Amino acid sequence: SNITEMVSITDHLLELFGAAIRASFPNLTDPPVIITPSTNAKFGDYQCNSALPIAQVLKNQGEKVSPRDIGVKITTNLAASPLVEKTEVAGPGFVNVFLEKKYGVNAISSVLKNGVKPPKFKKSRVIVDFSSPNIAKEMHVGHLRSTIIGDSICRLLEFLGHDVVRLNHVGDWGTQFGMLIAHLEDRFPNFTKESPPIGDLQAFYKESKKRFDEDEVFKKRAYSCVVKLQSGDPDSTKAWQLICDVSRKEFQKIYDRLDIKITERGESFYQSRMVDIVKELTSKNMLEEDEGRKIMWGEQHGQGIPLTIIKSDGGFTYDTSDMAAIKNRLAEEKADWVVYVTDAGQATHFKSIFSCAKRAGILDPTKHRIDHVGFGVVLGEDGKKFKTRSGDTVKLVDLLDEGLKRSLDKLKEKERDKVLTPDELKKAQESVAYGCIKYADLSHNRNNEYIFSFDKMLEDRGNTAVYLLYAYTRIKSIARNCGKDFTANIKKIIQETPIPVEHEKEWKLVKVLLKFPDVITKISKDLCLHHLCEFVYDVSTTFTEFYDSCYCIEKNPQGEIIKVNNGRVLLCEATAAILGECFDILGLKPVSKI
Ligand code: ARG
Repeated sequence: SNITEMVSITDHLLELFGAAIRASFPNLTDPPVIITPSTNAKFGDYQCNSALPIAQVLKNQGEKVSPRDIGVKITTNLAASPLVEKTEVAGPGFVNVFLEKKYGVNAISSVLKNGVKPPKFKKSRVIVDFSSPNIAKEMHVGHLRSTIIGDSICRLLEFLGHDVVRLNHVGDWGTQFGMLIAHLEDRFPNFTKESPPIGDLQAFYKESKKRFDEDEVFKKRAYSCVVKLQSGDPDSTKAWQLICDVSRKEFQKIYDRLDIKITERGESFYQSRMVDIVKELTSKNMLEEDEGRKIMWGEQHGQGIPLTIIKSDGGFTYDTSDMAAIKNRLAEEKADWVVYVTDAGQATHFKSIFSCAKRAGILDPTKHRIDHVGFGVVLGEDGKKFKTRSGDTVKLVDLLDEGLKRSLDKLKEKERDKVLTPDELKKAQESVAYGCIKYADLSHNRNNEYIFSFDKMLEDRGNTAVYLLYAYTRIKSIARNCGKDFTANIKKIIQETPIPVEHEKEWKLVKVLLKFPDVITKISKDLCLHHLCEFVYDVSTTFTEFYDSCYCIEKNPQGEIIKVNNGRVLLCEATAAILGECFDILGLKPVSKI
């Protein structure tokens, strides 16, 4: 057999070694198949580390076989593979795998011929619930994290060819609307006839909250406004719409600046479905009285935290809306997979939702995949919760503006303003500003808390967007600088020129690029984008090593091109293609001049 496209090497070796191991030990059920990349080139490129655990299993069954013999047995039963040059049994039975250069040459060449193709996956319909700020309350850095991580997950899934639905589950139905509507009625009594000029919704929210906390009569009215709204009263609905519109416009500005596509489907969308789900759960006898509330336990009664489906005043809750939403997504929308991106603080909430949905027969783990993608809190450089100097939450618009300012400073510090046209400078400024905000977030393990620092993210060394954007632009410019002979004939050159792997640094770069499908497969499982950032950084630094020791273009002392090494330039192009695809998944927008 011959494999000419890039495949997931790890998956391929798991299959290959899995077959060899099962053939060697037909009496073992599910023997361990362990494949890891080698940490040291001496031990090849990949290793199969199954011998030791298999020896242990055999020992437990009373059979004494040395791990080394097991390693040897595995290699004798190993089928030939176009990916494997040779294997060696080392130390106490590790099987070292050396990759076949021919495979590398073909796979990288296929990238240039056919573009960067995703590893093959079963296509699913995926709903990604992300960003999801609350109307009238501010959209804060937590929502920014959800927005950035969620968008990147969508981009990954879209690259894999899934049918992706991006949903903004905005909080547009909470009890805060009672006081907002009551306050609107007082401040703008004419609101049904002419649109009220609410400029600053946050200030408006604060005013109404103050009255709510201090004025009993107002509070009563606020409560009755919620009831009126939820029962469909036209004037309350109008007021609600006006308030949502103001928020919506603010949110949209952020999405536009960050180039994020998302469809709003807030909690209000589920109002009638909440009524339905309550009926369904009641008829299935799954709701229990608890001090006036109606609660629901998950699959294990008494374990974890129950959901509150109906409050003692009869109202619905965040839990109710999420039960209605999960039913809608799996049953009506026919999603195979639902992803929720929120702060890690909501992990218990989603655990309970998933457990209750399973109990109610809405979620079927054999058919559906469900993920809560949690993330840690954002801290300031002082290690405390991210706040402004005066202790207020940081407004996202201000944060993006600050990013723009800092990125311009950075470009000026590098004297780019003297080289670029005003238009190019502006494009570079935006690319760096939004790129570094996104990349800083994505390059950290999302499960940890994350320190927001403009200084760190704008550094031009290390794993930062600035470093990578520059590296990418430089790599892209290599082919462009090869002269007409090269650029005009690139299609033909790609067909005729093999990718070079003779020089140690060429082969090293090719091997790093070959990891791309592995990385994509891994993040499609754990939805942790920092693996992709590590890969991108690995590619860039390995590229630099290659470029420093391998001439791509030779010039005479006058600076004229005397020789172009076509194969090496193609390797530069393949590197750029793969980096470009990664940037796309990460939401980074490289510019041609920076
Ligand atoms: N609006 C919520 C918040 O700001 C996030 C909603 C997440 N999605 C969901 N289906 N619960 O915390």
